Formats: sequence, structure tokens, C-alpha cells
Amino acid sequence: MARRPSKAPRQAPPATLVIFGGTGDLARRLLVPALAHLCSDALIGDDLHIIGIGSRDGTDEDLRAGLDEFVPKGDCWQRLRGRITYLQGDFTKADLFEALKGKLDKTGNVIFYLATPAQFFGPIVESLARAGLMDESDGVFRRVAVEKPFGHDLASAKALNRQILSVVEEHQVYRIDHFLGKETVQNIMVARFANPWLEAVWNNRYIDSVQITAAEAIDVGTRGAFYDATGALRDMVPNHLFQLMAMVGMEPPNDLTPDAIRTEKAKLLSAVRTPTPAEAKADGVRGQYQGYRKTADVAPKSNTETYVALKLWVDAWRWAGVPFYLRTGKALKARDTEVVVTFKPVPLSLFRDTPVADLPPNRLILQLQPNEGIDLDFMVKQPGPTMQAVPVALDFKYADRFKIGGRTGYETLIYDMLLGDQTLFQRADQIEAGWAAVQPFLDIWAKGKGKVETYKRGSNGPACAVDLLARDGREWHRIEG
Ligand code: BG6
Repeated sequence: MARRPSKAPRQAPPATLVIFGGTGDLARRLLVPALAHLCSDALIGDDLHIIGIGSRDGTDEDLRAGLDEFVPKGDCWQRLRGRITYLQGDFTKADLFEALKGKLDKTGNVIFYLATPAQFFGPIVESLARAGLMDESDGVFRRVAVEKPFGHDLASAKALNRQILSVVEEHQVYRIDHFLGKETVQNIMVARFANPWLEAVWNNRYIDSVQITAAEAIDVGTRGAFYDATGALRDMVPNHLFQLMAMVGMEPPNDLTPDAIRTEKAKLLSAVRTPTPAEAKADGVRGQYQGYRKTADVAPKSNTETYVALKLWVDAWRWAGVPFYLRTGKALKARDTEVVVTFKPVPLSLFRDTPVADLPPNRLILQLQPNEGIDLDFMVKQPGPTMQAVPVALDFKYADRFKIGGRTGYETLIYDMLLGDQTLFQRADQIEAGWAAVQPFLDIWAKGKGKVETYKRGSNGPACAVDLLARDGREWHRIEG
């Protein structure tokens, strides 16, 4: 019988967290604050140690002082702070790994967290294995957490998987997608599989279309070099947006074991239809916000998209004929991450003078961030002597019911890595299925096909995205914070 993992709170086992890129932004803003939160929730104990690796000269105290402003003050941080040490070294040199070996207890559990630029992922894992640091034969765990971007396209993602899996086992690899650490994203599974009425209508018989949006108000900021070589599609779609799509579209897993869940997600992603070049040209549209080319480290004639919208089909029994519209962009009107499920109209309107086409559709809106919540738009009778149907919303806000603020999302991810629960981490096949689905769009864009339309900062995005839905007689849900 399949194991049913218990998630009753328990303290994680003793371990050392080695952060490659220990002085970087991710470590300072997200990882170490998350560790402090885990400490205050008593989910890690005083036997959790941290080694930060960076290229600059520095002392333990320099590293700790650099973290102080990012971590909530208090007893937990004081205790955790004292267990942080610094190791200076070059990720590409064997001496760093020898020095690391000298610092680590051979009989201890270790998580190696690669918070580095992507070109170092493969070489670091190889060097760790070569130095014997990934060896679990003493009954310890040795795990590696790999940040995104995992590859630049399908071929490079496959090559990186091959490189990593030639020296470590899949159970040692934790490919991070930080969206999966978000409470509201994890809640999609509960909403779907703990509410029988929803499952009954969750199919192409009742659902007209699905929209998945990750709108950001911020622009590219100081990340010009990375972003210009990446673009909105690679940055957000095969990872974050596809994780949401997989959660919305997957079949119920047989149980809650990590592999049962990951298998269903991979299955959904591998059912995304591969568009022909002509379909990819028509069903993928791009935009760039005004002024993007003036960003530091961005090419003056850059054609990189800061906005992308796609129409995708899922060739699975449940979803045949239901389009999935995905969009994401920077410098938009508001930060708004949401899934909008639009239901089909009733077959016939019984209400006097109200043609069925004029009845607004039922909609379920999973508001993932900010203002986390769930809305259900449905019809009621307008009070009065006539029979008029009007739309209203049942709206649930997380903040009214729970205290969820102040967490980075990395708490869950780090805790799960310490427990050895891979549910929220991408397996090699999920990553590859995601890249395979977007590859046709990358291919035609690489040939210079399709235009990148300029849009105003603070707007809803380019007009071509509106047309993408208008063509099908549909509209995007409004972007609002
Ligand atoms: C990151 C992308 O993975 O996700 C960023 O590289 C993006 O460009 C960020 O801003 C969005 O994450 P969140 O948690 O702020 O919605």
C-alpha cells in the first residue's frame, strides 16, 4: 500500500544547509529569513547549521552582519546567526570542494542549495559528487536544491538533467519552483480534491475556458542582463505558470505521495498539444513595455518580450476543447496572480427577455496573490416583481479567516527538503514536459516570426493579447491588485 505522508508538525532532522551564493540576494531576502521563521515555529532546532559560500573575501561575522537587516530580530535569529559560517571560494575550482569537505561532518546530513547563476548548476553538482560529498552510503542524506532557470530551452534542460543525473539520484535532486511554496498555490489541490461539487463540474462538459495570469507591476529593475537573455516566456511560463496549470488540470492522484502527485502533473503537462509553426505564430503573442530598452544591461534594440500570452490546448479526455489562456508580464497595471475558470452558459435561458448569451457566465476565481482568496461569480434573482437574473460574488478572503502574512514561501520548501518530501519540487520529466510545450513558440520567435508589440507601463499589456481572446469571442479577466 502507498505511504501516506504525515505532515503533522515535527522538528526537522539535524542538517547543514550549504548555500552556494550565500551572500546573494536570494539567500539574504528569502532563504535565511525563511530559516528564522522555521526556527520560531520550532520546525528546525539548534542542530541546523548554515554555511554560506561566496567568491568575495570575508569572515563569518561579515556574512552574519550582511544578513541582519533582512531577518526579523529576536531570540531565534540570535541563535541561528551564531550557527552561520562563511566559506570563500571559486565554484569552478576543486579546492573549494575539498575545503567544504573539511568543514562538513562525514556523518552529517547536508543540503547543498544552488542559489547561483544557472551556468554553475551542472558543474557544481559534478564537483560535489567528485569530492564524494553526495555519497549517502553512511545512512545520511545528501540533497541538492537547484534554483531556476532550469535550462534555457528543451535541449539544454535535457542536457542539464542528464549531467546532474549521471552523478546523483533523482531522489537527491530538489528542483525549486518557488510558486509551489505559496499557500494559495498548494490550496488549489485542496480546493479541487476536498470539495466534491467542484470535481463534478471540473471538465469540458461544464468549463468553457481557463485563464492563468501572473501580472506584475514591477519592471525588470536591476536584472537587465539576466532578463534580456531570458524574456517573459522562459522566466515564467514553463515553470510557474505551468505549475499552476498542472494543479488546475491534473487528474486526482492515487494518494498524496510525492511521486503520485508528480506523475499526475507530468501527465497533464505532457498532454499540452504541440502547436504547428502556424498555430504557434497565431497563438503566442508578445509585448515589451515602453522604455524597457533603456534599462541598464539591456540591448538598445532588444526584442526580448516582457509580456507573453499563449493559448494552449490540453489533449486529455477531461479538457478536450477547453482553451487554456496564459499570460504574464512586467510593468503592468497591478500585481495580480490568479486562475479564472469560466463555466459554460446554461443551455437555455428561462428568464424573460434575457437571451442566454446575455447571462454573465459563472466564474471561479482563485486569487493567488495579493488579496489571497476565492471568488465564485454566480447569478441570483434581483429582488422585485420581475424575474431578473443578476450576477453576485461569493467571496472568501484568506485574511478574514487566517493569519498568513510575513512568510516567504521558502519556509515550506526548505522544511520539505529537510524532511525529504519532494512533492513540491519538479521531477526531471515535469521540467522536460514544460519545455517541450513552449519550444514551438521559442522556435518560431527565433526565426524572427511574430511581432513584439510595445505597451504602456501601468497598462493591461499589449493589444495583441486582447485580440488573442477576442478572436475566440472571449475577454481577459480584469487585472487588479
Ligand atoms: C521569478 C522570476 O521566478 O518569479 C521573476 O524570475 C518574477 O521575474 C518572480 O518577478 C515572481 O515571483 P513572485 O513570487 O513575486 O510572484
